[in-house]
Amino acid sequence: MILSIESSCDDSSIAITKIENNELIFHKKISQEKKHACYGGVVPELASRLHAIDLPNILEDTKPYLDELKAVAVTNQPGLSVTLLEGIAMAKTIAVSKNIPLLPIHHLKGHIYSLFIGEKQILPLLVLLISGGHTQIIRVEGLEKMTILATSIDDSVGESFDKTAKMMGLAYPGGPLIEQLALKGDENAFDFPVPLRNSKLIAFSLSGLKNAVRLAIESLGGADEMSEQNQCDISASFQKAIRLHLIQKSKKIFEKEKIKDFAIVGGASANLYIRGAYEELCKQYGKTLHTAPLEFCSDNAAMIGRYAVEAYKEELFIDPYEIDVVRTKKQQAGMLL
Ligand code: KG4
Ligand code: ZN
Repeated sequence: MILSIESSCDDSSIAITKIENNELIFHKKISQEKKHACYGGVVPELASRLHAIDLPNILEDTKPYLDELKAVAVTNQPGLSVTLLEGIAMAKTIAVSKNIPLLPIHHLKGHIYSLFIGEKQILPLLVLLISGGHTQIIRVEGLEKMTILATSIDDSVGESFDKTAKMMGLAYPGGPLIEQLALKGDENAFDFPVPLRNSKLIAFSLSGLKNAVRLAIESLGGADEMSEQNQCDISASFQKAIRLHLIQKSKKIFEKEKIKDFAIVGGASANLYIRGAYEELCKQYGKTLHTAPLEFCSDNAAMIGRYAVEAYKEELFIDPYEIDVVRTKKQQAGMLL
């Protein structure tokens, strides 16, 4: 069995996965969402302190399995440096004290493997990853053979949901709230621009849309003056612009890529409106759509464990005394991912 740890943002999570059949034996996650809600986003230092309390509590529950561990896996990139360090410290301690190999795991690869929890992997695969930190289309041909075909040039889909909610005075995370409000709204009430609509660029951009939403909210007198119907209409119109943008750029990739299997992963892939749009698109292009169960769309250690099973077979180990956070340029500048 492999014990996996995830602490890249505001979820403390540990899983145990069986190596021979990918079965998820144990999984627990403590979400800090409510503790960050009043700040409208994740506060890194607070998140780190909460991981230091929650991870050892979850680890207590894994005691029955600890003697059967063959390896330990931990997310070491990308994410908030101060929260990644909490998971790394725990993983390192387990690896050293039990003298078992340590596997460093890339969080986004974990999201991709959320599709295969308890199942065999499907390769090759085209993946749309929409999370709080990333918006990308990736060609997945192997464990380490992943090519980014399109990426956001500014904000991510998840972040734009969160900011739209914040601008309307709603809590964090905004994605699920906006999705619910949109159900009662008119998606044609506001004519938000579809990002990069007239550009040949196969990329994503969300910052202009975010600004258009801000101006619309201001024109209604700001968050305090808006009616609930205004909130619903903004949510629906915003989601429509996101859908049109994602679909327009995905079509361009579908026209070039012959791979039959397509998947959506990441926190925002829990959005049923977006899933619905991709069901249509996949039908149109003869592709098979794969999605992870809703409980594994947002951050969790089960997906880290599932990727770790494949990494274990390929012996992608790291010396426990060498492991550290892998820092990207953005992280050095203090940004989320
Ligand atoms: O993958 P994730 O848990 O964390 C990162 O790796 O970033 O994604 C979190 C993001 C948040 O921005 C959240 O608002 C968004 O996923 N999200 C949603 C929905 N559920 C979560 N966005 C749109 N619709 C949803 N139903
Ligand atoms: Zn994530």
